[in-house]
Amino acid sequence: MTGTRRYLTTPIYYASGDPHIGHAYTTILADVLARFWRQDGADVFFLTGTDEHGQKIFEEASRRGMTPRELCDQMAARFRAAWEDLDISFDRFIRTTEPEHVAVVTAFLQRLWDKGVIYEGIYRGWYCVPEERYWTEKDLGPDRTCPVCSRPTREIEEKNYFFRMSDCRDRLIDHIRGNPDWIWPDVRRNEVLGFLDQDLEDLSISRPKARVPWGITLPWDDEHVAYVWVDALINYVTASGTIHPDNPPSRRGFDNTSGSWWPADVHLIGKDILTTHAVYWPTLLMGAGLPLPRAIVAHGWWLTGDHKMSKSMGNVVDPLELVGRFGTDAVRWYLAREMPTGQDASFTPERFLARYEELANVLGNLVSRTLGMTDKYRKGRIPEARGAGLDRDVKATLAAVRTAVEGYRLNEALGAAMDLARRANGYVEQREPWAHAKDPARAADLDETLATLARTLATLAALFQPVCPSKMRELAARLGLAEVPTLDQAGKIGLGGNTTRKGELLFPRADLLPDQSDGSTA
Ligand code: ME8
Ligand code: MG
Repeated sequence: MTGTRRYLTTPIYYASGDPHIGHAYTTILADVLARFWRQDGADVFFLTGTDEHGQKIFEEASRRGMTPRELCDQMAARFRAAWEDLDISFDRFIRTTEPEHVAVVTAFLQRLWDKGVIYEGIYRGWYCVPEERYWTEKDLGPDRTCPVCSRPTREIEEKNYFFRMSDCRDRLIDHIRGNPDWIWPDVRRNEVLGFLDQDLEDLSISRPKARVPWGITLPWDDEHVAYVWVDALINYVTASGTIHPDNPPSRRGFDNTSGSWWPADVHLIGKDILTTHAVYWPTLLMGAGLPLPRAIVAHGWWLTGDHKMSKSMGNVVDPLELVGRFGTDAVRWYLAREMPTGQDASFTPERFLARYEELANVLGNLVSRTLGMTDKYRKGRIPEARGAGLDRDVKATLAAVRTAVEGYRLNEALGAAMDLARRANGYVEQREPWAHAKDPARAADLDETLATLARTLATLAALFQPVCPSKMRELAARLGLAEVPTLDQAGKIGLGGNTTRKGELLFPRADLLPDQSDGSTA
């Protein structure tokens, strides 16, 4: 993969509330993918950020007695801090209130206007503020509730500008049919095709400032602002550098694509925002004459009980609380390992603990016993032996992990990595190195066992590195390696002669961890 360029995005999250487990999940998944790709030699551009305009932000700010700007500054800082605590290696954190983005949205809209794909009309229908989505009568749930989040909608009738989205329907259907991997997984692809079975309506792309003053002013009508979803989706182009705001308006962009990251390779999103990404966004790009993203990957929802975890439902889990007790790498592991990419999963403390114990009792145990025995039987020096006892398993695991990662099935990739650690523990039981240690005639067998375990741990460090980056740096160091091996090096590396360091438990048993609830309630 050396030399490959990969541009990966997360949604930009609404700056109306604090980050929760759902946001953390998407961002961690993206980070694991980015780290796998980088480790494989790709040149990666990983984008995340905050969505800061629109009615939702405006209303939340006034509810809190703040200006929208103050609220956005506060929330953008909290998202950044959360991503720092969760070890997210993003390359850029974009905010839609940045002047650069405002300039790019302006240029993008001007482009649509100049191409004649925008017209003025009257919008009559219902609007869901929490989802920032328009709905027609037939879309609505019981009592005119939002079909996505079941909350009440508001009826509106006002002058809006519309984008001729309907004109793009056939081209979009052809694109989806011709590119079976464009929307992943299949169930989401079929959902979009089903949606396109009906007539596609034109898209309202503006709001009167009289009602929603917090947004990007339209270049041709200063009494209207851009619809927040149009504004937000364009962030992916802003960050790519495709449209340079420094260019004079006449030349602004679209020709200056050398060095640009556009098109994105993967837009990673939750299934709640599938239509905006798989219908609005590609048609807007068609309208502007820009290439489409290469893939849209939609994951499922974290639920509490049967309900989607969401801020406005008041049932969210704070990822940072878990980080305080179990550490960053354990939270990353749980989220990325537990949910089969694309499906829903319930967050429960029991499952969290079960996954944590896997880290402690399988991987952690293998590390302690390998380093412990190397220390005890060979004075902390890895023997110069072939160490080929698990070569077949290592090879098979590397292949399985690569395939799963390419197919976005990160949970499967991580499961395969954990299975290798499990097999290595089985190998220890089977080889009984403690018996060989008592018998000088079996010294070569003991050397082979210890060398095999050390080499396997080096592979495991490479495989777990994307999900547990700091623990795996620590593991590599304890194996006497200057850094975590790449996937290419992983199966081949020799560690004979390296000095090991036993150290503390890599993942302390859960009952040994400080309980955050102690003391705080007394
Ligand atoms: O929709 N389970 O922002 P948002 C899994 N600003 N993922 C979840 C989740 C859950 N319970 N809850 C949230 C917006 N997410 C727009 C996006 S993009 C141009 C604009 C994750 O703050 C998931 O990725 O509502 C979902 O798509 C996203 O957060 C929605 O975040
Ligand atoms: Mg949402």
